[in-house]
Amino acid sequence: MIEIATPGAGPDDVTMGAPPGLPERLPVLPLRDTVTFPETLTPLAVGQERSIRLVNDVLGSDRMLVMVASRDPEVDSPGPEQLHAYGVVGTVARMLKVPDGTLRILVQAGPRVRLDGFEAERPYLLARVVEAPDVMREGPELTALVRNVQETFSRIIEDVPYLPEELLMAVGNLDDPPALAHLIAGALRIKTEEKQALLEELDVAKRLRRLSEILARELEVAAIGSRIQSQVQSELDRSQRDYVLRQQLKAIQEELGERDPGEAEVAELREQLDAIRLPEDVRRQADRELSRLEKLPQAAAEHGVIRTYLEWLASLPWDTTTEDNLDLTHAREVLDADHYDIEKVKDRILEFLAVRRLKPDARGSILCFVGPPGVGKTSLGHSIARALGRNFERISAGGVRDEAEIRGHRRTYIGAMPGTIIRALRDAGSANPLFMIDELDKMGSDYRGDPASAMLEVLDPEQNATFRDHYLDVPFDLSRVMFITTANTLDTVPGPLRDRMEVIQLAGYTEEEKLQIARRYLVPRQIERNGLKKSQIAFSDTGLKEIIAAYTREAGVRNLEREIGAACRKVARRVAEGEHARKVGVTAPRVRELLGRPRFQFEARRRTRQPGVATGLAWTPVGGDVLFIEASAMPGKGKLTVTGQLGDVMKESAQAALSWVRGHADLDDGWFADHDVHVHVPAGAVPKDGPSAGITMATALMSLVSDRPVRDDTAMTGEITLTGQVLPIGGLKEKALAAQRAGISRVIAPRRNEPDLEDIPEHLRRDMEFVWASEVEEVLAAALEPPADGARNGAVRARGARVPR
Ligand SMILES: Nc1ncnc2c1ncn2[C@@H]1O[C@H](COP(=O)(O)OP(=O)(O)OP(=O)(O)O)[C@@H](O)[C@H]1O
Ligand SMILES: [Mg+2]
Repeated sequence: MIEIATPGAGPDDVTMGAPPGLPERLPVLPLRDTVTFPETLTPLAVGQERSIRLVNDVLGSDRMLVMVASRDPEVDSPGPEQLHAYGVVGTVARMLKVPDGTLRILVQAGPRVRLDGFEAERPYLLARVVEAPDVMREGPELTALVRNVQETFSRIIEDVPYLPEELLMAVGNLDDPPALAHLIAGALRIKTEEKQALLEELDVAKRLRRLSEILARELEVAAIGSRIQSQVQSELDRSQRDYVLRQQLKAIQEELGERDPGEAEVAELREQLDAIRLPEDVRRQADRELSRLEKLPQAAAEHGVIRTYLEWLASLPWDTTTEDNLDLTHAREVLDADHYDIEKVKDRILEFLAVRRLKPDARGSILCFVGPPGVGKTSLGHSIARALGRNFERISAGGVRDEAEIRGHRRTYIGAMPGTIIRALRDAGSANPLFMIDELDKMGSDYRGDPASAMLEVLDPEQNATFRDHYLDVPFDLSRVMFITTANTLDTVPGPLRDRMEVIQLAGYTEEEKLQIARRYLVPRQIERNGLKKSQIAFSDTGLKEIIAAYTREAGVRNLEREIGAACRKVARRVAEGEHARKVGVTAPRVRELLGRPRFQFEARRRTRQPGVATGLAWTPVGGDVLFIEASAMPGKGKLTVTGQLGDVMKESAQAALSWVRGHADLDDGWFADHDVHVHVPAGAVPKDGPSAGITMATALMSLVSDRPVRDDTAMTGEITLTGQVLPIGGLKEKALAAQRAGISRVIAPRRNEPDLEDIPEHLRRDMEFVWASEVEEVLAAALEPPADGARNGAVRARGARVPR
């Protein structure tokens, strides 16, 4: 834009005011859609050719013209009839040429005039003008009108954005009534007709009254407008902004040829969910969440939460099931293929399956395998699943202390997830898998809720059809799941859980059984796993027996398998290094070479060399075990000390044993009053309890006071009464197995346990001597060595105890 300084037009021209004399005729500049008021400064755009010429001509002379509003804004070049009769004289103060050929002019308006006929229409209109001055009567009415207009206008300014704040000052300082009216009228955005009417009203008071009416109306409109504005604004601020941004994002993505990832995601989830036959309430929940997801922007934190939730819903096997194979011959074959012997257990399993076959819809009871580690509980579960053709999932209940681990956390938690049951279902991929719940006996409980009651709900056929995980918050039917639980002991399994299960006990294995299991299952498996061939390695029976006896001490076969694996690895390495061209025979000496020093020795021989030590047998959740009971005496006041982390019952039986021995030992009067007796059960870190060590304690004490050692091939178990009766105990089979593992060949047990012999495998009965006792005297007779010649004690001699020589 180039500004053309017009001749003689300094900045002062702008405030110059009206020219001194008013010419008789003036060129007419028609105004479209606007009205100028006297004594104001008005910018105008001039585009019509005749008007440009007009401006150029007046700039060459006195620069004066008259501005008159056109009656009809639609008409392009209004003639005399289309113009209003009143206008305002103006002086062009500035002129600016725009490159497109049009002009911008700034006009200082002078007085109002009335057009008194036209003299020419070409090249532009030329009219005769007569000044039309204001009519004004000063007085209180006029003052009141002025104030009213000023005040109303100041209120409008607050609400109307197009009016600049500076106007408020100008209006407040202006006390010339006509100038005030003109200033305000010019600033308002009202109809051209109204403006023109204000211009033509010569009576100042009337004009002000009219103006104040208009202002009152404008004020009301502005107030309503601002009310609407503030209501809409808050909505707009948030949603409009988001909406606009999202639309822009969408436009950009479309432009780039990308599909909106959010939409694609929702569509994909919907497809996934549509493909599944969901239960009705789940479907409803899914739809609800889908429509929430659609409305959320992807960046919202909640978006991810809902998406993960829907993914969980879509990943669960709502309507996928496998078909059961209830063919019992097939089941038998599978069980036999995977497990040696344990005939009773297999029979129980087959009976269980037979019932299922006859009553397919019966919500069957739950199998529970109880036994020491490594006896095949988990692997039996695997076999049953394989026989039935069901998917298998293992869930560990061990160490679960929190209900939420089973049932999940509510979705309102950060990082919430479904519990183990639902997770296992997803992994299983079918609605009727076989779930093996391991270590039911090791489930804890604390302030976070009782996992046992949650587990009960999972297992209970009455409740589990509508199992509700906290995270999913919709029920899942667990009644189709087959549950098998395992535990090392039932003692710590909550009663209500125990009541719902059909318990199958698995005891440990004998040396002979272990040998068979190793030969038939463990060795072939480990040979294969370690990349060997049968032509490269062979375990001899003596080799396996060596591993069983000297490298493992367990009820099951887990460590045995591990040691066999270790031996295979050693051989594999030698084969790989080319050391062995021919087949390696794993014999007893070779075992020592491969596995190093034996890990276990027969301790009983060493420990019982001294009088006062007896070998007992105990039952523990990991199978049976041997324990040594030591007794010693020292000068004192007849006190009994018992150590080794013993429970109350075991302490009491120590007391009972001591009382019986006091009454039956052949000792000088007062010996017990002058001595303190100490009974200790080593392996002090392991808590021990139960009454079955009674006869072992009596034997240790009698061995001490009679100075006769206990036979090193003998171990014992039995409860003692004060009168010397031997009462029956539990777990004879486990105890006998433990004795065998410890290299013991004679077991003294209560006579009333004799019928339990039936449970003990044939070959163990053959190898092990059982001595049945109903009184302590019989125990002592069988356990104690005959007194050595020249026994060193003077004071301690056997008396009441009928100890055979
Ligand atoms: N009678 C058997 N015949 C063949 N293999 C067996 C037999 N009993 C156990 N095994 C094998 O011993 C290993 C350990 O068994 P498993 O893992 O089932 O023990 P578990 O009873 O579940 O022990 P835990 O209580 O420690 O879980 C498995 O490899 C299994 O195949
Ligand atoms: Mg297991």
